[in-house]
Amino acid sequence: MLNRRETLALTAGVALVASSRYAPASAQTAPVPALRVRTLLDHGWRFHLGHAADAERDFAFGRDQRSFAKAGLTSPATLAKFDDSDWAPVNVPHDWVTDLPYAPPPAPASNEGSDAGAAHGFKAIGRDYPQNSVGWYRLTLPITPDDKARRVRLEFDGVFRDARVFVNGYAVAEIASGYAPFGVDITDFLDPDGPNQLALRVDASLGEGWFYEGAGIYRPVWLVKTNPVHVPQWGVFVRSEVDSGGALVQIDAEVTAMQDTPVTATLRHRLLDSSGHVVAQTTTQAIPVAGHATGTATATTRITVPQLWSIETPHLYRCETDLLVDGTAIDRVETAFGIRTIRFDAARGFFLNGKPVKLLGTCNHQDHAGVGSAIPDRLHAWRVEQLQSMGSNAWRASHNPPASALLDACDAKGMLMVNEARLNTTSAEGLDELTRMVKRDRNHPCIIAWSVGNEEPHQGTSRGARISAGLRRQVLALDPTRPITQAFDNGFETGASRVVDVIGFNYRTDKIPAFHAKFPDQPVMGTETGSTVSTRGAYANDAAGHVVRAYDTEFPWWASTAESWWKIADANPYIAGGFIWTGFDYRGEPTPYSAWPSISSYFGVLDLCGFPKDNYWYYRANWRRDEPLVHLLPHWTWSGREGQPIEIWAYSNCDEVELLVNGRSAGRKAMERNGHCLWTVPYAPGRIEAIGYTKGKRVARDRQETAGPAAAVRLTADRLRISADGRDLAMLTARIVDRAGRTVPDAADAVTIDTGNGLRLLGTGNGDPTCIVPDHAATRPAFHGLMQAIVQSDGTSGSFRVSASAPGLKGEGIAVLALGDSTS
Ligand code: GAL
Repeated sequence: MLNRRETLALTAGVALVASSRYAPASAQTAPVPALRVRTLLDHGWRFHLGHAADAERDFAFGRDQRSFAKAGLTSPATLAKFDDSDWAPVNVPHDWVTDLPYAPPPAPASNEGSDAGAAHGFKAIGRDYPQNSVGWYRLTLPITPDDKARRVRLEFDGVFRDARVFVNGYAVAEIASGYAPFGVDITDFLDPDGPNQLALRVDASLGEGWFYEGAGIYRPVWLVKTNPVHVPQWGVFVRSEVDSGGALVQIDAEVTAMQDTPVTATLRHRLLDSSGHVVAQTTTQAIPVAGHATGTATATTRITVPQLWSIETPHLYRCETDLLVDGTAIDRVETAFGIRTIRFDAARGFFLNGKPVKLLGTCNHQDHAGVGSAIPDRLHAWRVEQLQSMGSNAWRASHNPPASALLDACDAKGMLMVNEARLNTTSAEGLDELTRMVKRDRNHPCIIAWSVGNEEPHQGTSRGARISAGLRRQVLALDPTRPITQAFDNGFETGASRVVDVIGFNYRTDKIPAFHAKFPDQPVMGTETGSTVSTRGAYANDAAGHVVRAYDTEFPWWASTAESWWKIADANPYIAGGFIWTGFDYRGEPTPYSAWPSISSYFGVLDLCGFPKDNYWYYRANWRRDEPLVHLLPHWTWSGREGQPIEIWAYSNCDEVELLVNGRSAGRKAMERNGHCLWTVPYAPGRIEAIGYTKGKRVARDRQETAGPAAAVRLTADRLRISADGRDLAMLTARIVDRAGRTVPDAADAVTIDTGNGLRLLGTGNGDPTCIVPDHAATRPAFHGLMQAIVQSDGTSGSFRVSASAPGLKGEGIAVLALGDSTS
């Protein structure tokens, strides 16, 4: 029986395996159910931190026979009979680092030696914490006697890192990369009549990045059952060319025959629009596929009036591919795709569907408050929405292949993506990781370029050129439809910069005009730009407290302010745009204070929770110019500073901005395009207000009012209705307010979230780069008045109450409606 976690792709028809003199008896007679079943393996896992037995005996049977002496007898923990009753029940995605303690360096003098600790966010993982750096997972696979005649595959979207996968004791895969997806055929190791044990040993002792990376099965895992003759993983590539007759769509589809006899296969493709109407179809010629081999069939068809995928209207199509043998469909896969044209022009920047589009981008890593790197699908989508609300239209997945769910969200919401390989190397491993990334991702319309490197030590050398040329060649063999880029911080005129299609400048935006004058034929964009550091809600630097003021003035030596890079990029059409370093604050690489207790970077325009800092409003004003906006900073609650001068800034896209202080004008100023207005006024409690004028008319306003003492916690959610599927979630904000409902800007009251039944609390955060309260804590201090909680459906439907409380304050509860079938 299928449960609702399983996707039944095709239910009709039964096909017989072609019989052969040499085929095993069971295969000659067993009917093969004509279906593909794809099951998300997210619940029911058991996890053990540390070595499954002990460090010595992870891979040992008995006293004499060790390690890998016999296939199938690798480690007791990989067998069904192993007792894992004291292992922790967990759901995937799972990042075990979120449960590890913080590990400050022993003494300031040893800071240098603890750089790895700082880079990864000062958690007790890595070479100094071997017992915390290995984790084991176990799951009983849902295999039934019906699966006897099927091929069975596991598909992992990403495991951090060095994953050894075992099925019934057999080592079936060893995957070094923590970011590249992989699949493994496990059919031979299964026992359809018995229990089937999946086990993973994950080793995060070594890192791949200089930022927080998490550890464990932090992206989804799928179990896929197919006919022996089937479309392999990533086996369909849909591309299109737009011309005067609509769109010519080419579909390359692979067929693998996991049987001894050859087969003749036909592929029937139906293209459906977003409302499910078939808009084109085509069937290939029959192709012969040898036993235990893979063949490819190419088909073309035309959509005469295509609905183009764009930022504003991200129309998606679906290609339903049926694999037919002797006229019977024995497999079906669905591929989402979009139709659009892209082009980087050296003189005029980036073009989407023939129109110039400035890339208003951000770079991001993949961690979020409360969950670390184990980001549920809906949270990926939410993060895209926050950046879009700022006007951002592009995302650079720095510095690794992103989660599939993030790409799906970008496709669905119209966010452009630069997809980046983790390693700039043409080693067999490097090429394999690159191949997996490109094959998995090449159907996503959001992807506009493949990045093959970032600030590589060999970037400006001939070796660097050879390597990037090799990677470019490999990408183009798999996907000839997109340009190759690379991010440089020097060597802009030599080495790899001469072999990539689009050159990326990390910072140094002011050097782009001279580069362009010298290399007018090479498209250019800012792959890392700006990089103001700031603490949300803070307006004075405090080095001792690791606080950076949120005016757009602070940045490391290699970077610049938002205003300085964006003015250059905006003024020069040949600059395709830029990607701010970064959209969200991220754990690890604490900058500017690369020392405890800073556990995260301060680069984000949004903090670790996605709460906007003031720079968000700078970008929003200038990236959404058609919507009049004025934003005023700082807040206006400065008890004890009466009469002292306060620096007031306004960001706006209006012609002029007037500042009113307690109702009296402090001056009306012309707003420089992409600039800011500044006044300095003595503090007096009350209210400051900014009025934006365009063509002399008031079109926008913002105000800050002096808040009184904290009186209540306000609780709001991004959505009050979620699906009761055990995965969907709501993003909650707890806000400390005074009696009049004004946010109290310095409030740090400890807020407790209570979810009761029906919902589980995934985690909490507050955006403070020095906060070391555990991710899963239900109680956390507000930071500058705000706290975030992520609540997830536990699989039951109904209306469930979540409440926020804080000592001495009036609490608030809200009802979240979880709709639909419950999962079992
Ligand atoms: C860049 C690098 C990023 C990040 C950033 C910090 O050089 O590519 O990954 O480290 O600096 O400013």
